[in-house]
Amino acid sequence: MKASDKGYKIAIVGLGYVGLPLFCLFSKHYACIGLDKDKIRINYLNEAIDYRECEKRRNIRQALQRSTLTSSYSDLRGCNIFIVCVPTGTDAQNQPDLTPLKNVCKSLSNILKEGDIVIFESTVFPGATEEICVPILEEGSSMKINKGFTVGYSPERINIGDKTHRIVSIPKIISASKEDTLSLIYDIYSTVLEASVVKASSIKVAEAAKMYENVQRDVLIGLANEYADFCKSEGISIKEVTECASTKWNFANINPGLVGGHCIGVDTYYLLQRAKNKNQQMSLVQSARKINEEESSKIAHRIKDYALSINAKTILLLGLSYKENTPDCRNTKVADVYNKLKTDFSVVDCLDPIVNKEEILRKYKISIFPSVEDLTKKYDLVIKMVNHNVFEKIKFGGSKIKDLNDFL
Ligand SMILES: NC(=O)c1ccc[n+]([C@@H]2O[C@H](COP(=O)([O-])OP(=O)(O)OC[C@H]3O[C@@H](n4cnc5c(N)ncnc54)[C@H](O)[C@@H]3O)[C@@H](O)[C@H]2O)c1
Repeated sequence: MKASDKGYKIAIVGLGYVGLPLFCLFSKHYACIGLDKDKIRINYLNEAIDYRECEKRRNIRQALQRSTLTSSYSDLRGCNIFIVCVPTGTDAQNQPDLTPLKNVCKSLSNILKEGDIVIFESTVFPGATEEICVPILEEGSSMKINKGFTVGYSPERINIGDKTHRIVSIPKIISASKEDTLSLIYDIYSTVLEASVVKASSIKVAEAAKMYENVQRDVLIGLANEYADFCKSEGISIKEVTECASTKWNFANINPGLVGGHCIGVDTYYLLQRAKNKNQQMSLVQSARKINEEESSKIAHRIKDYALSINAKTILLLGLSYKENTPDCRNTKVADVYNKLKTDFSVVDCLDPIVNKEEILRKYKISIFPSVEDLTKKYDLVIKMVNHNVFEKIKFGGSKIKDLNDFL
């Protein structure tokens, strides 16, 4: 019997960059309910409008032919599998903020029934599912783990803006609190994915694997940033050095740069906090994080020196999102560069046709220009901070044009 015929009723909780594509994917095989606490988002999604551009309009429309959306947990009572994809960010002190995850557990605990399965996809430190989420589910449901309900953990590896590694083709790690739940989770993910589904022996292994993937990138980018400084001091190009080194089969081809976004930088803080609680130092990871945190200051400094050297008084930054071809501005380090330059130059503007203008103003107090036509002046120096495809067609006559790479 196909997994889609077995009466699974799946709820996807949190419909953002991870949850919405999952909702669309699962809806191809199961009648699902998607839940987000943001009622405005639900209203837009019901019109197949996703202003964060996590998913194509056509896919949302298709999903809505079979599945429904809600912002009320009571509508999930008929479901027996709950997949949780809410944010796991950090607070102002870079400490893990598990409030959304805890809130979801509390809400779900009120509707959990015997036999239900809660699968967490949000990125967390090893131990979080069993030590933080399970007790909340147990308390609210008055049931015990593996007696009343069971849980699973399956880290999400979706890569925003990546057309090659699509949700359906990325191998998926799964884990569960009980063997038969693991088989069931294997069943449902194998049904929706083209890629392999990999069973981890415990929830903690799956959590630690995800953490390792992201922390490894943070450390390697930290090394690349440090090596870029070294190359600069030697008067050679890090780009060329990396290209040459990449011809060796086991060299990790990682470029230096700003580490923003919701995952890599943030997840390292999760690991460091957990390690601290276990009296572990992780000094390599700490150093890399520090190097990457300081990168925006360093770049702003180099831009300033360059601007002064060519007597540039007006600067335009192209792109504000945390990486190319996405409107996602969470934890973008371009905002840091902008703010630092603002203290030294009276005219620093930013153009980004992709990001949400209102969101940027609200979050970062930065007023951006959404199109070249909106620009009010000519600039002495234009720097492409983020490589959006749309910038390829734009011409800035008379300005000195530079790239972020020139300042790495
Ligand atoms: N974005 C990525 O590329 C990516 C990749 C891999 C893993 N992850 C991880 O996946 C998780 C989700 O990230 P995201 O980027 O999709 O976040 P997101 O901010 O895009 O979306 C999360 C959604 O959850 C909703 N939400 C928050 N609290 C809720 C609650 N109590 N009940 C219901 N809905 C609630 C929000 O309104 C939001 O729409 C995080 O742990 C993240 O680290 C993200």
